[in-house]
Amino acid sequence: MPESYRAPRGVSDILPADQPFWRRLRETAVRVAESYGYGEIQTPVFERSAVFVRQEAHGTDLVDKEIYTFLDRGGDELALRPEGTAAVCRAYLEHGMGSLTQPVRLFYISNFFRYDRPQAGRYRMFHQFGIEAIGDGAPSIDAEALDLLRTFYDTLGLREYRLMLNSIGDSVCRPAYLVKLRAYYADKLDRLCGDCRRRYDVNPLRMLDCKNEPCQPFKPGAPRIGDNLCDACAEHFASVKGLLDDLGIAYQLEPLLVRGLDYYTRTTFEFEPAGEGTQQTAIGAGGRYDGLIEQLGGKPTPGIGFGAGLERIMLNLKRLELGPETAPPPDAFLAVADEAAEGRALVLARELRNAGATVISGTSGRSLKSQMRQANSLGARYALVLGERELADGSVTVRDLTDGSQETVPVGDVAGRILSS
Ligand code: HAM
Repeated sequence: MPESYRAPRGVSDILPADQPFWRRLRETAVRVAESYGYGEIQTPVFERSAVFVRQEAHGTDLVDKEIYTFLDRGGDELALRPEGTAAVCRAYLEHGMGSLTQPVRLFYISNFFRYDRPQAGRYRMFHQFGIEAIGDGAPSIDAEALDLLRTFYDTLGLREYRLMLNSIGDSVCRPAYLVKLRAYYADKLDRLCGDCRRRYDVNPLRMLDCKNEPCQPFKPGAPRIGDNLCDACAEHFASVKGLLDDLGIAYQLEPLLVRGLDYYTRTTFEFEPAGEGTQQTAIGAGGRYDGLIEQLGGKPTPGIGFGAGLERIMLNLKRLELGPETAPPPDAFLAVADEAAEGRALVLARELRNAGATVISGTSGRSLKSQMRQANSLGARYALVLGERELADGSVTVRDLTDGSQETVPVGDVAGRILSS
């Protein structure tokens, strides 16, 4: 196949063999989210770029390096959604959800697009199960979000993970902290990586979780946001931690966890897989974003949520051999031994499916022998044969492929015969 027709780098097809995993992830996400009163929302795959490329978001990798933007034929500047939070907040405002009882609890299972460097667990199209609880700043909502996410992992059987937790303050305490942080880095700039020299001006918080080698020696000595929280943020964080203790949710305080997106305030968190063979990439992350709705033109409205990367969760489920059952084999394979029987076969297959059976139809263009081989390789319980003789006397030959026994039954009795065992 010519290279030019292949799927673009970093995106992939999801083939039938992986669908049982996806179904289980989706069904578990829906069940868990709904049990906490979250309602599903679907936002468009593309939005106006401005929803994501906000003034405040400049300096983040998401906006500077990763977002896919394009002009449509009418000249509108659009973006494939790189994440769900800003899109859900846009929908919250657009549909007047501020007038509903707060918080409005929403969840989504969606694909997202980022021009990331593809590698295991990092793709250019990926899926998240995410929630957003908008309109209530209480620490109990933070605890609820974390409880919901750990319930999702636990229900999937993924019990080995670490929750890293931090608070990164708000518009009251962060500006003074950033002054301190810049002062600390001011005489070290020429020894930092290029990214951090740029971040120093536009997004200094991000210097704290830089992964590049030159920046590592300076991180331990940097001032910590946790030591610089205002009273309200410190109190909020203490309450969140207390509630997590009440819920028996273990966490590791991670003072350098600042997150890559611009909108976070106060609580931030990431879940990392633990145990052997893991690559320590986040399987879910999120936090509070009490200023985002305002950035999008609404009145000050707090919010909190997370996004959990479904491909990464699936990699971990496979690593732990926690795969779901594969799809059950079909009840019957319907072999058509005579072209004249095609119509009768299609009608019979339809009747059997209506009665609750899974039926794979063969076609008369292939020999009976090859159709029987196919029935066996599919693992069908029964092979049903419709040929000239069966057509003439209104019967169907039913072969039990588990023991090779065979009988001919009236066409009206087939459903009862194959569904009774
Ligand atoms: P995020 O940390 O950018 O946050 O992404 C959340 C999760 O999505 C990550 O922890 C990871 O599991 C998965 N993920 C991110 N990028 C990729 C990728 N290139 N390939 C595969 N998986 C990936 C957000 O997106 C926020 N909207 C989360 C949030 C919701 N915060 C508040 N509410």
